[in-house]
Amino acid sequence: MPQFPAHRIFPTPDAASEALAAEIGDLVSTRSSEDRSVVLGLATGSTPIRLYAELTRLHREGLSFSNVITFNLDEYLGLGRDHPESYWQFMHVRLFDHIDIPPENIHIPDGGIPDGELEGYCAGYEEAISEAGGIDLQVLGIGRNGHIGFNEPGADPNLPTHVTKLNEVTIGDAAEAFGGAGNVPRRAITMGVKTILEARRVALLAFGESKAEIVRLSLSPGVTSQIPATYLQLHRDSTYFLDQDAGAQLG
Ligand code: PGA
Repeated sequence: MPQFPAHRIFPTPDAASEALAAEIGDLVSTRSSEDRSVVLGLATGSTPIRLYAELTRLHREGLSFSNVITFNLDEYLGLGRDHPESYWQFMHVRLFDHIDIPPENIHIPDGGIPDGELEGYCAGYEEAISEAGGIDLQVLGIGRNGHIGFNEPGADPNLPTHVTKLNEVTIGDAAEAFGGAGNVPRRAITMGVKTILEARRVALLAFGESKAEIVRLSLSPGVTSQIPATYLQLHRDSTYFLDQDAGAQLG
C-alpha cells in the first residue's frame, strides 16, 4: 500500500513552487475546459509566496482564474481586513490583486467578527465550502511545531472550522511581523483538521533547514495530536513539496 503523505524533494523552493503551481494550473484549465469550477484551499505565511508569484505568472501567460473559488485556511481574530498583517491583506497583495478571480469567489475568515457571532460564522464557513462542492486541492504550510492552519499541538482532529488559541511557538514566530510578541493576536479562526482531511487532495509546502526536523517527525509513521500534520497520514492523496533543506532529514 502506498504511504501517505508522499513527498517530493526539489532542488530549490522555486522549483517546488513551480511544480505545485503547474499542478494547480492544470486543474484550473481542465475544469475550465469542462465548464466547471474548481475549489482551492489556500494558505498564508512566507512559504506559499513563491507559489502565488508563479500562479500570477501563469495568469499573465493566459491562465484564467474566473472559474476558481477559494477558501483560506485561517485568520487572526481581532484583526480587521484592513490591518496590514491580516491574511485578507496578504492574499490580496500576493495573489488576488493580480489574477482574474471574481471577488465573490474569495473566502477568507473574517477576523473582525464579534465573539457572540463566531460560532455561527464558523458554521457558515463550513457550509459555504460544502455548497461550493468541497475543496478540490488544499495548500498547506507547516509550523515549526507541526501546526497546519492554526491547528496547534493538542488540536482536536474532529473539529471543523473553529476558534482556537495560538501556541507560544506560533506567537514567537509571528512576533517580528507584529513588532513584538505582545502585539500578536492570541486567537484565530481556523479550518479544523477535519476540514483539511475532507479536501480531495492536500499539498503541503515546506522549505528551509528550520522545517527539516518537523518534516521528518510529521512523516514518521504514527498519528499524534502533538504534531497535527501527522493527521495527513490519514489522507489518501497528500503530498509534501519540499526543497532540499526541508527534506534533508528524510532517509
Ligand atoms: P511559514 O509558516 O510559511 O511562515 O513558515 C508556515 C505555517 O506556520 O504554516
